Amino acid sequence: MTDQSVSVTVLHPLLLLLISSSLPLLVFSDAQICTPHDQRLLQTINKSFDTQWFDYRCDPTTKRVTQLSISQATISGGIPPAIGKLSSLESLNLFVVNNLTGPIPSFIGKLRNLKQFTIYSTNISGPIPAFLSRLTKLEGLHLSNNQLSGPLPAFLSDLPKLIWINLDNNRFSGSIPHSFGKFNDSLTVLDLSYNQLSGKIPESLGRFNFQMIYLSNNKLVGDASMLIKANETVEGGIRIDLSGNLLNFNLSKVSFHRNLMYLDLSRNRIWGTIPNQITELSFLDYFNVSYNRLCGKIPFGGRVQIAGVFDHNQCLCGSPLPECK
Ligand SMILES: *[C@@H]1O[C@H](CO)[C@@H](O)[C@H](O)[C@H]1NC(C)=O
Ligand SMILES: *[C@@H]1O[C@H](CO)[C@@H](O)[C@H](O)[C@H]1NC(C)=O
Ligand SMILES: *[C@@H]1O[C@H](CO)[C@@H](O)[C@H](O)[C@H]1NC(C)=O
Ligand SMILES: *[C@@H]1O[C@H](CO)[C@@H](O)[C@H](O)[C@H]1NC(C)=O
Ligand SMILES: *[C@@H]1O[C@H](CO)[C@@H](O)[C@H](O)[C@H]1NC(C)=O
Ligand SMILES: *[C@@H]1O[C@H](CO)[C@@H](O)[C@H](O)[C@H]1NC(C)=O
Ligand SMILES: *[C@@H]1O[C@H](CO)[C@@H](O)[C@H](O)[C@H]1NC(C)=O
Repeated sequence: MTDQSVSVTVLHPLLLLLISSSLPLLVFSDAQICTPHDQRLLQTINKSFDTQWFDYRCDPTTKRVTQLSISQATISGGIPPAIGKLSSLESLNLFVVNNLTGPIPSFIGKLRNLKQFTIYSTNISGPIPAFLSRLTKLEGLHLSNNQLSGPLPAFLSDLPKLIWINLDNNRFSGSIPHSFGKFNDSLTVLDLSYNQLSGKIPESLGRFNFQMIYLSNNKLVGDASMLIKANETVEGGIRIDLSGNLLNFNLSKVSFHRNLMYLDLSRNRIWGTIPNQITELSFLDYFNVSYNRLCGKIPFGGRVQIAGVFDHNQCLCGSPLPECK
């Protein structure tokens, strides 16, 4: 697992979510005891989707629905309003729903107990609505692979418990708000890749202990070294994908975090040399700096020659590229 196989697709945070989630997704629910009120709502909701994958959980004590996951479904129009009446929902997940169109409906704002909210791979559109700011218990916001657009709202960073945000593969534009530096310290995953974001990456994002930060395939400019630099308190392998932007900074002075596992800086305008410290990274699995403006001798040793991709730079040389003259 050194090159193509460790792709962003394979390691997509949502896949990790599925693996790590306590929700047994894609499994039929066993008969469960829920309140008659919630049972009727579930039936209404189930009828509006054409799906085999309708999974829910009711709390053993309150008998209220706390989790609902619908996957591989078809629906015409919008999300059924009955979902807004499941007021004890903590986890709402819609994965791959054909013909789901229109904006995120306002009744989602009534689900004040939501900790996890997923709409993955549908055709919902419009902006991230302001009423999401009422979901103050939200820990995971997963809105990947939709047609959402508009700016990234500054209010997201006021949601006090967010630790995981996937907004990749949409049509978001404008710059990353400076307020994003105010997220809860526990923010560990931020995926904004495959959008139309522009401008500089706020310096303040450098204060986080990201486990994964994916900003690839946008139009971001300037410095990104604050995201790569060491913050010694991070545990576990770190993944960073900034490829396919217009980033422009001197890589020579960057000191990489010792737990760096995956770093894609390819297709940018990064210059300078590759720091020798890269040879000290024992977890390095993937290091792609191809299609930049780097120069000088590639450091030899550690996992650099196994994990590194260096082609199409200004004047890099040495293993695995041809020898320096
Ligand atoms: C490295 O990045 C380039 C440009 O993004 C890409 O085309 C190439 O497939 C990557 N190499 C590997 C081995 O993943
Ligand atoms: C949902 O509807 C399908 C098809 O009508 C049915 O087979 C399934 O048992 C229903 N599931 C629940 C949980 O009501
Ligand atoms: C979204 O809309 C496009 C274009 O109408 C269609 O090709 C695609 O299958 C739709 N996707 C989903 C998940 O409904
Ligand atoms: C999806 O919507 C399109 C256009 O409204 C319609 O023609 C098609 O039959 C729908 N597909 C399904 C599976 O309902
Ligand atoms: C930060 O998030 C964690 C995990 O969701 C939560 O336990 C903690 O209370 C949050 N911190 C604040 C200041 O809200
Ligand atoms: C490292 O992370 C901690 C915890 O989030 C933060 O308080 C600190 O400012 C960060 N350090 C640096 C040098 O950014
Ligand atoms: C890049 O940074 C290195 C280390 O700080 C420095 O020696 C070098 O002069 C810089 N390159 C340029 C072109 O400024």
